[in-house]
Amino acid sequence: MGTNADQMEREGEDDDDIVCLESFFIDDNYQLTTFTFGSQVLQLLCLQSASTDFDLTGQLVWPGAMLLNDYLSKNAEILQGCSILELGSGVGITGILCSRFCRQVVLTDHNEEVLKILNKNIELHAASDNPEYCAGLAAEKLEWGNSEQISQILQKYSGGFDLILGADICFQQSSITALFDTVEKLLRVRKEGKCKFILAYVSRAKTMDSLVISEATKHKMQIIELAGTRSCVGNLEGVIYEVSL
Ligand SMILES: C[S@@+](CC[C@H](N)C(=O)[O-])C[C@H]1O[C@@H](n2cnc3c(N)ncnc32)[C@H](O)[C@@H]1O
Repeated sequence: MGTNADQMEREGEDDDDIVCLESFFIDDNYQLTTFTFGSQVLQLLCLQSASTDFDLTGQLVWPGAMLLNDYLSKNAEILQGCSILELGSGVGITGILCSRFCRQVVLTDHNEEVLKILNKNIELHAASDNPEYCAGLAAEKLEWGNSEQISQILQKYSGGFDLILGADICFQQSSITALFDTVEKLLRVRKEGKCKFILAYVSRAKTMDSLVISEATKHKMQIIELAGTRSCVGNLEGVIYEVSL
């Protein structure tokens, strides 16, 4: 029988193994990819397909981002001069498109690996020839439901935001309450319902379809489907919701 010290040593070895394995499996073979939304052409680094079991969904561009970017490029007047915070930004395709119209864009994510590629894409745009394309673009770490991180962001951007955006961020049932708690805190900064949450939702499971509606209702939010936005994205059905207090 081993001693406690033996066991602790073995556990330490196991931890080291896990750390090595994680970095071994992370795919960072990003490719510069061109996306076109109406008259807007964006070049971003992203993966072309997911290849790991880790929480790295944000390394790819998801169908929800295509839906939201298409909607925003056709309705760019709603972005003009606004300040925006995006939740679960991934590689940043939505926030970076918005930076072409907005005054300030804060892109957020909780995953360190995703934040690295998000920052690289922000740098890529800051280095672009046209300085108007990098107006007030920043990345911040934000895990939904993390009150400390939310407070830090609200201290740094004290006026709050005109719009909160989210593309394809409702895919894991366990995170939906925290997501809506976070949205509520961000919406409350602006009085009289002046801030809205625009959510590009892609339907993959009926339970999630109803969970999103019921969670918004539980938070006493109004959730409306934006007319004409229900459409096919990839082989899935997507829709854009406007959520407000
Ligand atoms: C499916 S990806 C969508 C990425 C991007 N919005 C798009 O549509 O291409 C979901 C994103 O949400 C982030 N995310 C997932 N759970 C989160 C959480 N609890 N807090 C903050 N971000 C989260 C992931 O890291 C990932 O970047």
